[in-house]
Amino acid sequence: MPNKTRTGKGDSNLAAVNAYLKKNEARFVRELSEYLEIPSVSAQREHRPDIRRCAAWIAKHCRSIGLATKIYETPGNPIVVARTPPVKGKGRLHYLVYGHYDVQPTDPLGLWVSAPFKPAIRGGRIYARGSSDNKGQHLAHLNAVEAYLKTGTELPCDLTFVLEGEEEVGSARLTEFLLKNRKKFRCDGVVVSDGSMPSLAKPALTYGLRGNVAVEVIVRGPSRDLHSGSFGGAVDNPATVLCRMIAALHDRDGRIAVPGFYRGVVPLSKAERRRLAQDPWTPKALAKFVGVPQLKGEKGYTPEEQRTSRPTLEVNGLTSGYQGEGGKTIVPAWARAKLTCRLVPDQDPSRIAGLVKAHLKRICPPTVRVEFSKGHHGGPAYLIPVTEPSAKAALRALEKAYCHPASMVREGGSIPIVSLFKSALGAETLLLGLGLPSDNTHSPNEAMSLAGYRLGARLGAFLWPELAR
Ligand code: BES
Ligand code: ZN
Repeated sequence: MPNKTRTGKGDSNLAAVNAYLKKNEARFVRELSEYLEIPSVSAQREHRPDIRRCAAWIAKHCRSIGLATKIYETPGNPIVVARTPPVKGKGRLHYLVYGHYDVQPTDPLGLWVSAPFKPAIRGGRIYARGSSDNKGQHLAHLNAVEAYLKTGTELPCDLTFVLEGEEEVGSARLTEFLLKNRKKFRCDGVVVSDGSMPSLAKPALTYGLRGNVAVEVIVRGPSRDLHSGSFGGAVDNPATVLCRMIAALHDRDGRIAVPGFYRGVVPLSKAERRRLAQDPWTPKALAKFVGVPQLKGEKGYTPEEQRTSRPTLEVNGLTSGYQGEGGKTIVPAWARAKLTCRLVPDQDPSRIAGLVKAHLKRICPPTVRVEFSKGHHGGPAYLIPVTEPSAKAALRALEKAYCHPASMVREGGSIPIVSLFKSALGAETLLLGLGLPSDNTHSPNEAMSLAGYRLGARLGAFLWPELAR
């Protein structure tokens, strides 16, 4: 229920907007469900037609709610740009609202309770790949804008939605597109809902995200898989070598052993560490939540610091040899690993990729060859300045929408384009994640809570007047 005592002057015309949101709740869920049926996986080539279908679906939806909408073709996936109708008036603020219609791959498919692209509602949550990351989150904003437009309530800001199809693979095309069209996207700020808050009773503004960079490493041994009985022992095994190389990427204290990796890392301030210490997770609860017997990490840092504010190097995938049924006695010809680093200010993604590759080359024995292929595009970390006035406005909007005090949190995920909003457009980004930690993003059984979807639209309703104030 809206908290009447908090809604001050200027919110009276929001009554119609909120009533519209309420009245159309069921249809909004049906529309989300329809959107979620499209398997817009950007990492897999076979889904290219689905990606295009998905861009067309969301463009059509934007048009239907009254936005001037265009699909921009790129060498990769299309970018959908949708603008609110022009309103007369001087000095109106212009905000970009960014989201992504592409989703992560679904594997391991066998662990899904219901099929990833057959949206199913259970226990107040809608289960489907992309529900929380990110279709439900930007659709919630579109629902709010629809409510303004359809009730004839004046939107206090001009909005441009920028919805792309390559976020999960690093936003390379959107980067080029924005660099080429800086003028068109000149704005006073950016709003991105593509993350989470601690709970619906603890709404939060995310003040920082980590950056990301990917490296794919291949160790090549014999020119073909060999009989391990005939040749094993005399020929080095690429899988063993790669595992040894990977093991050498961290020291015993959990620090990354790549020379130069930590150069330029801005140390955590005392104030920052104090803030991060307010984290609601105890190490035990966190271990239980993710299903490990015990946490392990970098010595000298709390789990909350490690998962949000320290750089990491992770193995995301590791492949070699025979994966099929039964056994096969071979020395495999090659072994491959997909690596990514999470980055913090002021680490530079391409410099870090270079350091990791150089280190792997250095430790690779002469019995095999090492090669690299690029995984995905990445980007640097982002922190909103503590003095940013729009952050205060966003916190007020959160409190009004969720009827609970709002806080500031730092998250460990990455949204590669956010740092470009700053460097190319000069705009700060308000990160207002509408999801929850239990949404299983990138995991089997991804879900968005319907209450979170509803409240997200309410946030969309309260946000624009607060930002314009
Ligand atoms: N929604 C996430 C980003 C995110 C995750 C924000 C967790 C806050 C908390 C986004 O869709 C994502 O997954 N981004 C990728 C980017 C990568 C492929 C460059 C990520 O973080 O892995
Ligand atoms: Zn994601």
